[in-house]
Amino acid sequence: MLAASDPSPDEPAFLSAYEKAGAEDLDPRCVPQTLDQPPPVGDAILYPGYSEIDQETWRMLYARQLAFLPGRASAAYLHGAETITLGGERIPALKDLSARLARETNWAVARVPGLLHERDFFELLSQRIFPSTDYIRGREELDYTPAPDLFHDIFGHMPMLTEPDFADFYQHFGEAALNATGYQRVQLERLHWFSVEFGLIREQQPDGSTARRIFGAGILSSHGEVQHALSDAVEVRPYDVAVVAEQDYDVWHLQPLLFELDSFEQLVDQFGGWAKAQGLR
Ligand SMILES: [Fe+2]
Repeated sequence: MLAASDPSPDEPAFLSAYEKAGAEDLDPRCVPQTLDQPPPVGDAILYPGYSEIDQETWRMLYARQLAFLPGRASAAYLHGAETITLGGERIPALKDLSARLARETNWAVARVPGLLHERDFFELLSQRIFPSTDYIRGREELDYTPAPDLFHDIFGHMPMLTEPDFADFYQHFGEAALNATGYQRVQLERLHWFSVEFGLIREQQPDGSTARRIFGAGILSSHGEVQHALSDAVEVRPYDVAVVAEQDYDVWHLQPLLFELDSFEQLVDQFGGWAKAQGLR
């Protein structure tokens, strides 16, 4: 997820959606952190000493969520989850996931302490490194957690990094975001939200028909959003980068409006064209 902007002195402060909505009782996990040294990547990441309660939380979340995904999650996601061998028995090791992503699309995983300041986040993406937390939500937060935890980062995000077009798009997003200033940062935050976190895609089915499927990590890692996203309560519009860049959103409620891609190639092409027109690539 994106974090707070770092405005130059003559620019207004563009706040992250969390901060705009946060008021006084902002959860400390939602406050972005700046890395003071490079985070461990791949084989340098140690496996934490998880408690049995943590492992049980993973097992519960994994089993409950996976049961929902056939017929709802995109084929690319389901294939990716299999490829990186997400298992339901034990919290996966970030270094193993990193090695499998490296094999598939030359991405790697870094272990980060929480929500990152956007500059650190974009830097890592531009190097094809996905920043992941390695702590899991508390038992009382099974249905909802205000900030990313390992279930969101691993279960939600990592399978999609095996999809070649999506993997390229995400690196290009990081590169473009490093060059963005002012209002462009707000637009990028929206583009991220409505693709990486809350994206839908129309996919070809084995019988030749097409169907709407989910690939956004914010939906796929949330029990409530998966049920909600394909329901009649959501208005779905075709993905058009110029429209999405102007569409605001609210992080605190189930999403009333989502956008649907035709293909991941469309995401690469549209984003590339937009970024170029904005002078970001
Ligand atoms: Fe996320």
